[in-house]
Amino acid sequence: MLLSSGLMLRGADPQWIRVGTDSTDLILRVAENGRLYQSYLGARLPERDYAHLPQGAEAYVPHGMEDYFEPAIRVLHNDGDPSLLLKYREHQVRQVDDNVTETTVVLADEVYPVTVTLHYMAFQRENVLKCSSEITHTEKRPVVLYQYASSMLHFSRDHYWLTEFSGEWATEVNRAEQPLYFGKKVLDTKLGTRAGIFCSPFFLLGLDRPVQENQGDALIGTIGWTGNFRFTFEVDQFNNLRLSAGINPYGSEYTLRSGEVFRTPEFIFCYSTHGVGEASRNLHRWARRYQVKDGEKERMTLLNNWEATGFGFNEEQLIGLLDEAQKLGVDMFLLDDGWFANKYPRNSDTQGLGDWQENREKLPHGLQPVIDAATKRGLKFGLWIEPEMVSHQSELYEKHPDWVIRFPNREEYYYRHQMVLDLSNPKVQDYVFGVVDDLKSRYPQIAYFKWDCNSPITNIYSTYLKEQQSHLYIDYMRGLYRMLDRIQAKYPDLPMMLCSGGGARCDYEALRYFPEFWASDNTEPLERIFIQWGFSYLFPSKCVAAHVTSWGRQSLKFKTDVAFMGRLGYDIRVSGMSEQELAFSQEAIRTYKRLMPVILEGDLYRLVSPYDGNRDHAAMMYTEPDRAHAVVFAFDMTPRWGEYLSLRSVRLQGLDPARNYRITELNRMEGASTVGCDGQVYSGDYLMKVGLPLFSTGTYVSHVLELTVEP
Ligand code: GLA
Repeated sequence: MLLSSGLMLRGADPQWIRVGTDSTDLILRVAENGRLYQSYLGARLPERDYAHLPQGAEAYVPHGMEDYFEPAIRVLHNDGDPSLLLKYREHQVRQVDDNVTETTVVLADEVYPVTVTLHYMAFQRENVLKCSSEITHTEKRPVVLYQYASSMLHFSRDHYWLTEFSGEWATEVNRAEQPLYFGKKVLDTKLGTRAGIFCSPFFLLGLDRPVQENQGDALIGTIGWTGNFRFTFEVDQFNNLRLSAGINPYGSEYTLRSGEVFRTPEFIFCYSTHGVGEASRNLHRWARRYQVKDGEKERMTLLNNWEATGFGFNEEQLIGLLDEAQKLGVDMFLLDDGWFANKYPRNSDTQGLGDWQENREKLPHGLQPVIDAATKRGLKFGLWIEPEMVSHQSELYEKHPDWVIRFPNREEYYYRHQMVLDLSNPKVQDYVFGVVDDLKSRYPQIAYFKWDCNSPITNIYSTYLKEQQSHLYIDYMRGLYRMLDRIQAKYPDLPMMLCSGGGARCDYEALRYFPEFWASDNTEPLERIFIQWGFSYLFPSKCVAAHVTSWGRQSLKFKTDVAFMGRLGYDIRVSGMSEQELAFSQEAIRTYKRLMPVILEGDLYRLVSPYDGNRDHAAMMYTEPDRAHAVVFAFDMTPRWGEYLSLRSVRLQGLDPARNYRITELNRMEGASTVGCDGQVYSGDYLMKVGLPLFSTGTYVSHVLELTVEP
């Protein structure tokens, strides 16, 4: 019998709990011993066959009993006993709406009053599952949590292939894959704030074979947690794989008081039987509809001044840049770092963080004249802040050294000459909220913030937390979310870009507050193709800020074509452009705005991977859901002369085979090569079976094609 809601009676027959979407089933089983097992995870199964399923592995393995591998949960009771045995108590399935169900399963120990509630949100059409747990107890004295996974999943397949995304500043999300054999592979971070510099909080898992774009069983997984995360993949002696995902418990044993509830972040995954391409599209749709702030709203194009001026600017120069932004035709001007601090002026990255008052030398009349000048030119105004951080050389540090995460009795260690404020402290939360609130109160016209976070947590000690230092990594993040909730509540229409010295902070919990993130400080377009490709597995294009800058030797057309694949912006001296380049850019921005519904809301198809071959070519396309309109991007990167790949046609995807499409090449620039198919009409069938010859053996050649259905 399939339980929909109710109480499990002791000694009753084994029963099943289905956590499913339109195409995936996660089937849990309450066994005769009263414990909860994961019997199945995969493509949807008929209910009548559940009875044939094997019992499987315990769904949320506790430490200390008969299991030999990594547990999901490990606790220490206050009598010194480390055991836990969780039995099914009850569960509920709630239909949130016609697309979403929420299943909660309560497990409890019969010896110690500890309860674990497993939560599953299932998004039917998007085929996405979100899993988290809640741990609580009523023991007299606190219980210490040593491990507290959000979720655990089990697989029993012939082979496993893990794809990870690792990097550094300016070389984010490099894709690499490896088979998993006996033992553990861990993807984690303990950097605290700028948590993802080296490892991004997501992965791809290929079942039976390495992940492929359009075939095979694959899973994309990620965690909605902006701090330390950990994914552990462990293969046992029978080649079963268990995956546990959650906060990294490193240095984070958590003392839970009686009655207190420990809520884990959400582990989010999408399982596909048709490769990761389908899983990405599903995640993107889900993210836009349910998870990302302003996920279904438009985005603004912008001109940023960072690459153009660095810290060196004044009011007059900024107004000059506003003229450039207006000429270009973007929606907003974004003023970056360097506008603040007086005692320790922010003229370099060595000082001034924390002192969020306009620098009187650069902005003697404050920000108002710049904002007014922007408004006069029909531009919105955005501002860079980094409010979680403090420089040693700052008035804030002088006033509140106890607000800084630092050892009171040791030398300080800096990352980019700065330290992190202690957001576990409510007073610091007030202060950080106050940075935004004060700026918004003084300048209500500020329409956007770029919220940066350049340092990981060093000197890990909180004056506020006193003897509970091991709560700091977790309480910091909770403090951050609490403070962001306040900003969201007071300024619901204020978009912010999440930045962390590039793309070192991007997860689906942060994106509940930030509609977009800065993918990398590296805007060299060849590198960007790889970086944007990496992020595309997880995030919809409208979340990925992509700017045209002076990095790289490529033509302005190539740079523009690359930036077109995300949320387009500019960070370049417009005055340095030739007349032809300016006219090209103005036209490109108009084109981009027209194509936003396709590029930012459409389905993404990754056609030719830059990882295939030797940095030869890349192609991807976006298709509107009704398949009437598509945009194709094709890049020759650095192909070898005469290599045969260049002659291969690019087969398109996601079109209607029965309809005809007219091809129009966009972003044409005098002197740049064009495709032969411009102006031709093809059936969707032909385009998907035969494709278009879009590649050449040229270096840094790019094409953007618009496909429109012929009536
Ligand atoms: C970080 C960001 C950059 C820029 C600088 C300013 O490195 O990633 O885009 O804002 O800070 O200091």
